[in-house]
Amino acid sequence: MPATNESTKAAYTRPLVLGIETSCDETAAAIVSADRQVIAHKVLSQIDDHAEFGGVVPEIAARQHISHLDHLLKDLMDEAGLTFRDLDAVAATTGPGLVGGLMVGVMTAKAVAKAAGKPFVAVNHLEGHALTVRLTNEVKFPYLLLLVSGGHCQILSVAGPGDYTRLGTTIDDAAGEAFDKTAKLLGLGYPGGPAVEAAAREGNPKRFRLPKPMVGKPHCNFSFSGLKTAVRRLAEECVEREGVLLKTDRADICAAFQMTIADCLVDRLKRAITLFREQVGAGDHALVVAGGVAANAYLRGKLETLASANALTFVAPPLSLCTDNGAMIAWAGLERFLSDDFGDDMDVSVRPRWPLDGDAKPMVGKGKKGAKA
Ligand code: KG4
Ligand code: ZN
Repeated sequence: MPATNESTKAAYTRPLVLGIETSCDETAAAIVSADRQVIAHKVLSQIDDHAEFGGVVPEIAARQHISHLDHLLKDLMDEAGLTFRDLDAVAATTGPGLVGGLMVGVMTAKAVAKAAGKPFVAVNHLEGHALTVRLTNEVKFPYLLLLVSGGHCQILSVAGPGDYTRLGTTIDDAAGEAFDKTAKLLGLGYPGGPAVEAAAREGNPKRFRLPKPMVGKPHCNFSFSGLKTAVRRLAEECVEREGVLLKTDRADICAAFQMTIADCLVDRLKRAITLFREQVGAGDHALVVAGGVAANAYLRGKLETLASANALTFVAPPLSLCTDNGAMIAWAGLERFLSDDFGDDMDVSVRPRWPLDGDAKPMVGKGKKGAKA
């Protein structure tokens, strides 16, 4: 039974912030409070709408956000037992992402903010992922962050909201993109990450060897595009030998792929830990993983080992807050709302590209080509 309005309001520490996420294929919203409670939380996945295309179709995504956001917000407020006027601020993902979806979320959030007489907070989607651990755990700045999602793959030193130093990035595909492309190649459907992880559980990671680009290099950058070519070649060889891609072959390829991605991430992070320590000095710091790929249990295990070998505390958000959601946007909005320099972002427009580190330049060409780029 929903709480009454007055009892709900009394149970939380202000500010209360509503966050709306529509940058890709999830229509999501949540309300969080300053004492780190997720008061209400709704995520509507569009996976089924995009599955037959093997990836996110921007026009379909935007149309689905338009169709669903209104009633999702109504359900959210009913569940919270709150009205828009009870909020202190309204936040929405303003970039990076697919422009049609971003516009739906931002226009809706601005309308709600205006009608309720509250400020609008423009949130960077990547900052939402980056700060989620501070909603779920006691994590202090600075921390070292591996941000691995469908559109992004970066290592960042996080000194505070809006204060990021990029230590490394992918020069081509993002890690999640590599999972999605591998799944598509092997006929495992979309989104690829969970499907590859499930198949890998049945496989032998040592049967096939895949290349590990960038491993051992003196910087912290990644490259994953060669990996999918190698996966295609392996799959073709298996089909040539057997006539079809056997389930065991597919499982072994997935296991080798997952292990290789994790090895690459761990190798680059080793280098980043050295840079991070040079930057922030000794002390009790955290290694944080965020973004959709952070849901991968195998990767989490490897990162945990890496952290403990380097005297870092490993922190990962719960699985439901790794992939896109409204709570991460509400929380990043809340941290920004509380920062000294915040006024009102009502005049801020959507930004399809929006690097977290303001000085960051693409490593090659036009930068990453993931769904969010
Ligand atoms: O953060 P997210 O929901 O959206 C972006 O901001 O991109 O991340 C989605 C990505 C997809 O590429 C998906 O395949 C990947 O995260 N992913 C996973 C797993 N769950 C989701 N990758 C590996 N293992 C998983 N269990
Ligand atoms: Zn994301």
